[in-house]
Amino acid sequence: MSDPILFLFFLFLLSSAEGAPLRRSFYSESCPGAEATVRGVVSRAMAREARAAASVMRLQFHDCFVNGCDGSLLLDETPEMAGEKAALSNVNSLRSFEVVDEIKDALEMSCPGIVSCADVLIMAARDAVFLSGGPKWEVKLGRQDSLTASQEDSNEIMPSPRTNATSLIALFTKFNLTVQDLVALSGTHSIGQGRCFSIVFRLYNQSGSGMPDPAIDPEYRAELDRLCPLGGDEDVTGDLDATPQRFDNQYFKDLVRGRGFLNSDQTLTSLPETRKYVEIFSKNEKRFFKALVEGMIKLGDLQSGKPGEIRRNCRVVNGISDDQLVKTK
Ligand code: HEM
Ligand SMILES: *[C@@H]1O[C@H](CO)[C@@H](O)[C@H](O)[C@H]1NC(C)=O
Ligand SMILES: *[C@@H]1O[C@H](CO)[C@@H](O)[C@H](O)[C@H]1NC(C)=O
Ligand SMILES: *[C@@H]1O[C@H](CO)[C@@H](O)[C@H](O)[C@H]1NC(C)=O
Repeated sequence: MSDPILFLFFLFLLSSAEGAPLRRSFYSESCPGAEATVRGVVSRAMAREARAAASVMRLQFHDCFVNGCDGSLLLDETPEMAGEKAALSNVNSLRSFEVVDEIKDALEMSCPGIVSCADVLIMAARDAVFLSGGPKWEVKLGRQDSLTASQEDSNEIMPSPRTNATSLIALFTKFNLTVQDLVALSGTHSIGQGRCFSIVFRLYNQSGSGMPDPAIDPEYRAELDRLCPLGGDEDVTGDLDATPQRFDNQYFKDLVRGRGFLNSDQTLTSLPETRKYVEIFSKNEKRFFKALVEGMIKLGDLQSGKPGEIRRNCRVVNGISDDQLVKTK
């Protein structure tokens, strides 16, 4: 066998093994510039719009919790398949899919058919954290892209902003994620924004009480009431912490003072076992960063074990022509 053929055969072996172990430097031979390409596009996207960092990094969570990190989130709906983009937690909420397209287009120029969309999400999330002032870590790569998506599974699995700490612990435990992982991963709300849609219930009718959530600091609640008046525009957005463009431990300092934006944030102070980590991370940013990195790697390790492919276009399974698609944003 000639060298290039041997090389392709080797690649085939690696990528055809279902659930093949992920590893660092997976593309160091096949696409050595991959990580630099991803970082360049994320950095340019952030220069255009600061919030892109948050929007891009969130995609890893919503991809990985639904049948593993397999890029299923990125598939546009087709007449035969309802996409995950329109699932309850995603519709009118997930953003920056065009940044993923831009990364993938750049990779297809330099190394066609090599880098999976699932891996793009993992690299981009890491870069978004690092470029926002957070920790830097080495990602494991070698994921395959799914052949399908499941809106139903997303609806069932993804937690709503109303979820309480007990339910969040139960959910994360299903993915072998610990209480420390839950609290550290929630700390990604150190960057980005949420909609009034996600908090009006806790401002005006927490748990059907007709009253606001008593855990909200009164001054902060007055601010939120002004931002999100009852009956107002629920697409208006507010910052998830006091420094929404900086990846830091401000989120935890805010939680300690009752200034968490979402119910699912503030609820982390409601149980001793979650509150413990909120307090530790609020005082010690290094501990937060270390736990965050561990959590992000575990989140990235979730795999479906189903056969996949390297998609050419992250929105479409290979072999489907564009005109069969119903484009979504
Ligand atoms: C613990 C359970 C979680 C819940 C209930 C939750 C829920 C939410 C909600 C409701 C929003 C605002 C969406 C909107 O109003 O449109 C949001 C934003 C965000 N979430 Fe989470 N989240 C959770 C965990 C995570 C994790 C694990 C990550 C990342 C690994 C993450 C990253 C983000 C980011 C970065 C944003 C801001 C996005 C932007 O500005 O576009 N979240 N989350
Ligand atoms: C948390 O939410 C679950 C599911 O909605 C509910 O059954 C449970 O009673 C809640 N726990 C607390 C302490 O509010
Ligand atoms: C959690 O760990 C158990 C035991 O190691 C394993 O059997 C199971 O598949 C894991 N679950 C997930 C979602 O990774
Ligand atoms: C508050 O929520 C409860 C239960 O969901 C509902 O029955 C009630 O009508 C709501 N109150 C208001 C003022 O929206």
